[in-house]
Amino acid sequence: MPVENTLEQLRSTSLQELEECTSKLELEEWRVKYLGRKGHVTGLLRKLKNLEPLEKKIFGSQANQLKGFLEERLVLAEGKLMAEETLAIGENDRIDVTRPGRLINVGGYHPLTKIRREIEEAFISMGFQVVEGPEIEWDHYNFELLNIPKNHPSRDIWDTLWVDYRNERGERNMLLRTHTSPMQARIMEQEEPPIRVIVPGKVYRYEATDRTHEWHFHQVEGLAVDKGITFADMKGTLYEFARKVFGSERKVRFRCDYFPFVEPGVDMSIDYLAPGATTHDWLEIMGAGMVHPKVLEGVGYDPEEYTGFAFGIGLERIAMLKYGIDDIRLFFDNDLRFLRQF
Ligand code: DAH
Repeated sequence: MPVENTLEQLRSTSLQELEECTSKLELEEWRVKYLGRKGHVTGLLRKLKNLEPLEKKIFGSQANQLKGFLEERLVLAEGKLMAEETLAIGENDRIDVTRPGRLINVGGYHPLTKIRREIEEAFISMGFQVVEGPEIEWDHYNFELLNIPKNHPSRDIWDTLWVDYRNERGERNMLLRTHTSPMQARIMEQEEPPIRVIVPGKVYRYEATDRTHEWHFHQVEGLAVDKGITFADMKGTLYEFARKVFGSERKVRFRCDYFPFVEPGVDMSIDYLAPGATTHDWLEIMGAGMVHPKVLEGVGYDPEEYTGFAFGIGLERIAMLKYGIDDIRLFFDNDLRFLRQF
């Protein structure tokens, strides 16, 4: 067949087939068939090599024109197909842009995390460091090094959850820490004074739960040991803490209290106006005191050389006061209606 005819035929059949393509896949198949490396147009161009120079020139340019023309038509056909597809989406899934959007839930911090951070900030600004310790603890640290010997009645202060484990002497000596105080002994055992640390963490008690009691809650322990630390240093530090967290107008009150690991021991209250109440009340927020000489001796310090103070703050207590929460169990229920308020 003369080249002219071949060209003409290629043009009409390829165009007709292009018209009939209804998907991207078919368009691609069409491209391979005509314009691909082994396609008809390419094949034709290759064949032109064997023609006379004049014919080659004429048909060569015609064949190249055809190639360019088909490439253009392919681009047009692709565009048309895309437009049709877009239109079809519009028809089938018409979007009403006036409808209200879906609410995106943004996470927030738990109220206890917020309070813990606030307390940490207050003490960090006074030169304290933040450290953490184990929740599963030895009797040795939780009680003995804190001047609470075995079988001593003061152990009754802490209803203990024991781990079901016995040492080689058959003694049950592992527990869930009942307070963060064991970290006092752990830190002093490892460090030399001066020491100024706070220890936030979780503690456990074998206790029935009600509005004001939980079997697990949080404390922030504090410890400062150095030469010449006095009771006045303790009062000043804790007063400053109360003002930083509860505002500069807050009054504080110290009263005598008993904890085996401090002497003298106190509890600290802040004045508090309950929501709806007309008169201020005193609310206890922590225990504190001067580190007992026996505790200092137990970790190898000389009580003649060093003195110090310690304190233990109940985190839930502070959060309940600050946010006006009246049931401690709410902190652990994970009820979004509660958590969203903060
Ligand atoms: N550990 C005590 C408790 O859980 C609280 C406490 C009282 C800690 C006095 C102290 C302190 O460091 O000095 O009941």
